[in-house]
Parts: sequence; C-alpha cells; structure tokens
Amino acid sequence: MERDRTVRVGRGPNGAWGVSAGIYSWAMTTALITGSTAGIGAAFARRLAADGHDLVLVARDTKRLREQATDLHDRHGVEVEVLTADLAADDGIEAVADRLRARKKPVDLLVNNAGFGNKGRFLEVPMADELRMLKVHCEAVLRLTAAAVEQMRERGRGGVVNVASVAAFVPRGTYGASKAWVVQFTQGAARDLAGSGVRLMALCPGFVRTEFHQRAGMRTDNIPNWMWLDADKLVAAALADFARGRTLSIPDPRYKALMGLVKVAPRGLLGGITSRTGRKYGPQ
Ligand SMILES: NC(=O)c1ccc[n+]([C@@H]2O[C@H](COP(=O)([O-])OP(=O)(O)OC[C@H]3O[C@@H](n4cnc5c(N)ncnc54)[C@H](OP(=O)(O)O)[C@@H]3O)[C@@H](O)[C@H]2O)c1
Repeated sequence: MERDRTVRVGRGPNGAWGVSAGIYSWAMTTALITGSTAGIGAAFARRLAADGHDLVLVARDTKRLREQATDLHDRHGVEVEVLTADLAADDGIEAVADRLRARKKPVDLLVNNAGFGNKGRFLEVPMADELRMLKVHCEAVLRLTAAAVEQMRERGRGGVVNVASVAAFVPRGTYGASKAWVVQFTQGAARDLAGSGVRLMALCPGFVRTEFHQRAGMRTDNIPNWMWLDADKLVAAALADFARGRTLSIPDPRYKALMGLVKVAPRGLLGGITSRTGRKYGPQ
C-alpha cells in the first residue's frame, strides 16, 4: 500500500511504530477500540481505518457497531470485527480480554477509550453509578491493558493508548480521580515496559464535541467556544504524539498552556473554577 501523507503513524517493516514523512508502504496491523461508536472512539476508528488498519470495534450497541463496521469496510476496504460488550460488567471485560489474548489475529494497538460522565456532584450521584465509573474507567482499563500487553510483549511489539482527560490534573470528583488513575497507571506501566517494544500513552483531551455531555445530562452553555476541540484533529495529534514515543499526550496548545497554569495556580482557586466549568446539569 502506498500513501502520500506528511505525518504518518504505522508499523514499519521492523514492526516498530514510527513517524514517516511522505510516502510509506508498511505492513498492516489490527487495532481494537473500546467505545468506538461515538465521539473520540469513532474518530480513532475513522483515522485508523483510513490508514489501512484492520479493526475490532467494541461498544454495547450491536446495531450501531454493525453499521459502523459496514461503513468503515466499504469506505476503506479494511477488515472490521465487532464485539458487543459492556465494560461495566465482568463478562464484558473478560470477552474483550479474551479477544486481546487471541493469537490468531493479534491486536497490535489497543485504544481504551470507552467512558462516560455522571450527572451531579459528590453525594448527588448514586453510589452504584460512581462504582460503575471506576469499573469502566479503571478496572476495565487495567484488565484490558494487561491482557493486550502480555501478548504484545511476547511478540516484542505493540501499543496501548488509554484515553484519560485534562480533568486528571484538577479537582473534579470521581471522574477526575479515575482519569488521574489512568494517567499514573499508564505512565508507570510505560516505564516498566521500556525496551520491550510495547508503548503506552495516556491521552488527555480537553472538551471535545461528542455525545459525552448530552449522555451525562450536562449543560455545556458555560463552556466557552475556544475550549472545544474537534475529535478528528485530536486523534491526529494524539497518534503523532504516540508515534513520537510520548507517554502523555495533551494534544492542543490551548490546553498545554492551561495545564501549565494549573501547575502553579492555588488549589482553592482551581477547585472553584474547575468544579463549575462543564458541570451544569439539567435540560439544555
Ligand atoms: N468529550 C469530552 O469532552 C472528553 C474530554 C476528555 C476525555 N474524554 C474521554 O474520552 C472518552 C470517550 O468519550 P466521548 O466524549 O467520545 O464519549 P461519547 O461520545 O459519549 O462515546 C462514548 C463511547 O463509549 C461507549 N461506552 C460507554 N459506556 C460503555 C460501556 N459500559 N461499555 C462499553 N462501551 C461503552 C459508547 O457506546 P455504547 O453506549 O454503545 O456502549 C460510545 O461508543 C471517555 O473515556 C471520556 O471520559 C471525553
């Protein structure tokens, strides 16, 4: 396959992920994306399929998964498997882990992206929903990363992108805490696996226009326009960071600058601002 693009992520003839300028002709790989049917996950699926990667798509809505698979196959000619799984349930996590352990068509890139927000502040959110969030954002990410990385390490190549959030760096309830876990876990595992041929990166988006806020019943009218990111541009920047070997990606200069300020801002002031922004609940 030959493509003429400026920055490209793909697997080279030696099996390594890398950036190449201009035309490349590399062996294809298989990527598994959780939460592929909407928002950031769908943008990953579009981009990786356009780059010629076969896909395994994971979400709960089978009809939507099948439609997405047909569309990506028809547009890009790649093989697309679908796997219906609820990552808030043990059997759902195990079904995806089994696919990641399969040796027949090994997964070279895992994107742990599935996630959601809860409506309300601490104590307003039912405990069952808080625990469900920890299951999807932390336990599923831990178990799926382990399943994928074990076989990747044996083969001496592979990658994992864990979608966290800039909320990881500010006081923001269970959501921010779960994403802080994703960042710390991913960077720690990346360090432990250095030299194995397996790369891990935590991706920290700011606000992205997806189904996320609507699903959580969050109003977004107090989020300024300049804070919104485009999912396709976010994914392009994230994959470029991944190809450069970064273990943490904050893919937009506006958010990079903001996160720099966060490091020096007084905690009290920060808590006041971040607990309000994007946390208005109720009808739009
Ligand atoms: N949008 C933002 O502003 C933003 C900012 C920072 C970080 N993030 C993070 O980015 C990731 C993707 O969010 P998004 O904004 O793209 O959300 P989205 O548009 O609501 O899409 C969420 C995806 O996850 C799937 N999903 C949700 N719960 C699941 C479960 N229990 N098991 C399996 N799949 C599940 C959904 O499909 P089904 O409903 O069919 O399962 C859907 O495909 C999340 O981890 C989120 O925390 C988002």
